Amino acid sequence: MNGSQRGLLITLEGGEGAGKTTAAGHIRAWLEDRGRTVVSSREPGGTPIAEQIRSILLDPESKDMGPITELLLMFAARSDNLDQLIRPNLEAGFDVLCDRFTDASRAYQGAGRELGLGPVDLLAQVVHSDVTPDLTLLLDVPVELGMERVGKRGVAPNRFELAKHDFFERIRQGYLAQAKSEPDRFVVIDATQPLEVVEKAIEQALETRLGKKL
Ligand SMILES: Nc1ncnc2c1ncn2[C@@H]1O[C@H](COP(=O)(O)OP(=O)(O)OP(=O)(O)O)[C@@H](O)[C@H]1O
Ligand SMILES: [Mg+2]
Repeated sequence: MNGSQRGLLITLEGGEGAGKTTAAGHIRAWLEDRGRTVVSSREPGGTPIAEQIRSILLDPESKDMGPITELLLMFAARSDNLDQLIRPNLEAGFDVLCDRFTDASRAYQGAGRELGLGPVDLLAQVVHSDVTPDLTLLLDVPVELGMERVGKRGVAPNRFELAKHDFFERIRQGYLAQAKSEPDRFVVIDATQPLEVVEKAIEQALETRLGKKL
């Protein structure tokens, strides 16, 4: 039970169309079945201010945005998400499930936009030196498969989805490198598998990594 204990922060990561949002629903249900209260968020976004920043970031009209501006806007949105949603809920003993977090900046701005990890880690230190995810699930799929899944949604592509293949390949490799460097926090899930198999792998990761903390 949650009681007076701090809640758990669980983050979902992966490239476009990996299945993060689909997995979030399953994780939420798994935690609720165990009597936990779960608050969901997403990045960029999650709060009214951060959702406004999200609109700027995803708008194809923002095509001239430079990588540092992009990184700073990501962290501005993240800072609001932390202030208004993540910290208060964790402190109240609720679990927070976040669809992308700082590892997405490491992958997208650090690796994808080739800023390197230095500026990302520096901002992470400024914005949330007190908050680290308890568990990060990385849903890994080849770029083409993710794009194929996104394409089937039939929604106009956002500014990120309009980028070239190399950008997404750097993101995938950036995520995998990050997972390798922090094996205690990350679990990499092969998300090319059928949904039921992915869900089983996620349940196993939750049980193994969080079972004792629940
Ligand atoms: N394991 C799977 N096998 C087949 N299709 C899947 C699988 N997981 C998710 N999908 C489908 O792929 C599409 C993309 O999934 P989802 O929206 O969860 O991905 P996402 O990682 O949140 O994408 P985005 O990066 O755009 O937010 C959805 O239509 C979903 O139903
Ligand atoms: Mg999604």
